[in-house]
Amino acid sequence: DPIKVTDALERPLRDLRISVIDRCNFRCQYCMPAEIFNESFKFLPREELLSYEEIERLAKIFAVLGVKKIRLTGGEPLLRKNLPYLVSQLSKIDGIEDIGLTTNGIFLKKYSKELKEAGLNRVNVSLDSMDDELFKKINGRNVGTKPVLEGIFAAREAGLGVKVNMVAKKGLNDSQILPMARFCKEEGLQLRYIEFMDVGSTNGWHLDNVITKNDILALLQQEFEFEPMEQDYFGEVAQRYRYAGTDTEVGFITSVSESFCGSCTRARLSAKGDLYTCLFNGNGHDIKSLVRSDLSDEAIRNHIIEIWNHRRDRYSDERTEGKIKHDGKIEMSYIGG
Ligand code: GTP
Ligand code: 5AD
Ligand code: SF4
Ligand code: SF4
Repeated sequence: DPIKVTDALERPLRDLRISVIDRCNFRCQYCMPAEIFNESFKFLPREELLSYEEIERLAKIFAVLGVKKIRLTGGEPLLRKNLPYLVSQLSKIDGIEDIGLTTNGIFLKKYSKELKEAGLNRVNVSLDSMDDELFKKINGRNVGTKPVLEGIFAAREAGLGVKVNMVAKKGLNDSQILPMARFCKEEGLQLRYIEFMDVGSTNGWHLDNVITKNDILALLQQEFEFEPMEQDYFGEVAQRYRYAGTDTEVGFITSVSESFCGSCTRARLSAKGDLYTCLFNGNGHDIKSLVRSDLSDEAIRNHIIEIWNHRRDRYSDERTEGKIKHDGKIEMSYIGG
């Protein structure tokens, strides 16, 4: 049985988000603005990344501490070589019940079958616009929606669970809120609207740019009828609704308007091997040095227990309460969302 660990606010450790690479083939303005992540930007050299063996070892230690869900993120995780191999190793770990991947979808056409066979359960695919020209502008790489849509369908075809993530930003993609809903409803895809968050220090966040769940729901209700759904599990991030009379769901990730820190059970491991206890807490704990020393699994486990026991992060709740500090935050592409 797993060892039960809780943090200073009584929250258990259930999910591990693992960023496998800091690079991405897109330059979404709100995540990796091209002016900053340009030719001369220094991404991590290979030897700085945790190896698959190191990730697997850490995942086993986390599973002993109660982690049941693993989510692989990036940057773009499918840019890391041989990702299906990592998935197959992780899927063999006792206690890991669910493995997900958050991706921009471009490589899903190529890898969905292999990922499914390796034991991947689900993919969350980012798509912020149905309109080609706007999508090209958002991803900063002149890529239209077609390869993403093909990726989504390939994943579904391969038997993977699929969710579509749309970050809604005022003045950028307001026009796409309804078209995205129409498309996903028609295709029976689960769409989740994500409130634009103040992650990192380069994405130019301003409260005025946030489109809240209530704004979006009001807009959608002009066209659709909804039934609220129960929470699926403790700590679920999305609030879900069903289109009346269908099985198709739509979700909202309300990090800004209705924060959910009270049930936050997520730890984050960066590509570089630092452990973060909150998406907004830039104070990482160097785990890679531990893994590259001669410490035993048990000794590493005790370090992690210590870190989790001291965790008091509740950044989004504090933002709501008006108590925020803007310094020392970590970039999204580094920590994987
Ligand atoms: P599942 O519910 O397992 O499907 O995945 P998820 O929604 O937790 O992960 P995903 O990578 O699809 O993230 C969707 C959005 O939720 C992204 O914008 C994340 O940054 C955001 N998110 C995920 N976890 C947290 C969290 O702990 N805090 C905050 N503030 N946002 C989060
Ligand atoms: N606010 C909210 N979501 C964001 N993402 C990236 N940057 C932000 C932000 N500033 C989303 C991506 C992806 C997920 C991991 O996080 O679109 O779906
Ligand atoms: Fe890449 Fe996703 Fe960030 Fe866009 S949001 S730059 S696709 S990691
Ligand atoms: Fe968890 Fe931090 Fe997000 Fe709150 S802001 S839900 S503590 S990651």
